[in-house]
Amino acid sequence: MSTLMPLLMLIINLSTIAILWFGGIRVNNGSLQIGSLMAFIQYVTQIMFSVMMVSAMLFMVPRAQASAKRIQEVFDIQPRIGDPVSPNPTPLPPASTPKGLVSFERVHFRYPGAEKDVLEDLSFQAYPGEITAIIGGTGAGKTTLLSLIPRFFDVTDGCIRVDGIDLREMSQQTLRKKIGMVPQKAVLFSGTIAENLRFGREDATDEEIRHAANVAQASAFIDSLESGYETILAQGGANLSGGQKQRLTIARALVRSPEIYLFDDSFSALDFKTDLMLQRALRTEARHATVILVAQRVMSVKDADRILVLDEGRKVGEGTHRELMETCTVYQEIVHSQLAEGEIA
Ligand SMILES: Nc1ncnc2c1ncn2[C@@H]1O[C@H](COP(=O)(O)OP(=O)(O)OP(=O)(O)O)[C@@H](O)[C@H]1O
Ligand SMILES: [Mg+2]
Repeated sequence: MSTLMPLLMLIINLSTIAILWFGGIRVNNGSLQIGSLMAFIQYVTQIMFSVMMVSAMLFMVPRAQASAKRIQEVFDIQPRIGDPVSPNPTPLPPASTPKGLVSFERVHFRYPGAEKDVLEDLSFQAYPGEITAIIGGTGAGKTTLLSLIPRFFDVTDGCIRVDGIDLREMSQQTLRKKIGMVPQKAVLFSGTIAENLRFGREDATDEEIRHAANVAQASAFIDSLESGYETILAQGGANLSGGQKQRLTIARALVRSPEIYLFDDSFSALDFKTDLMLQRALRTEARHATVILVAQRVMSVKDADRILVLDEGRKVGEGTHRELMETCTVYQEIVHSQLAEGEIA
């Protein structure tokens, strides 16, 4: 394509020059009229352009065919995660289970094609009205654990229940309606701040949007922007800082007021003071919901009702900060590497 176009343009222009040259001689001799010469040039260029378009098409067709084949391949893929075929996709939860209870029962998980389990024999329960924190080094499997709850992947062995029902017996729509997830990498869309916050619930009122931003400690910076909630965000929120993006994604989850909140390291870009204020506000806001919070910083998990310590996909400790300080060596190591002596108690 890159050599064809200049070549064709060269041919067109050379032929115009040739027509002018030979035609000029005939006009001089009086055997050709200038009008006919001009018409001849017009016809030749039109024909040449058509030839050019046809040859361009010859290049495009095989390319389009290859692309169409690839697109069709993508359309033909059947999702690995399917809805239950039973006539009742929303079975009733056992009466004794509180709403929003998330329980892992001997869960094993391995990524498709991987050689090793990422999560091994993991059991715990996250109760509504409580904050369950998960702490562990990078690659411990925290993000993987969270992504199993909205069923981005199915467990390899064991079972995860929400409200006492196995996830695989629930329709994905029912399940995901219950969940508000803040992913590790803050994702925002191009559009206004208000549109981004309404992403999960389009009928949210301005009042609700403001309230969520308040809880997420985002209202101060939004108000300081010239157009406030109508500020246009660039693709991916490129015109915001990391911490501002995080707070907007937290506010977006809050607008939906789901039964289960999943925060994946969502406070990592916040300074300690904002982190603390946000956690306090969150505690009141989500007092009836189940909150599962992944963090790298001890300060972010210290006040949780239950802390789970993960190490290479295994649970090595569970309890409150105080209990873990006495019983769990991995937790002690994490704490001592992060906090000064005075802060530990
Ligand atoms: N999509 C994937 N396919 C295959 N392996 C994966 C995939 N995502 C993660 N892993 C592997 O699973 C392990 C756990 O990853 P995970 O993202 O859950 O860690 P993490 O605890 O969230 O770490 P971090 O604190 O850095 O976010 C890693 O060893 C990683 O290589
Ligand atoms: Mg992670």
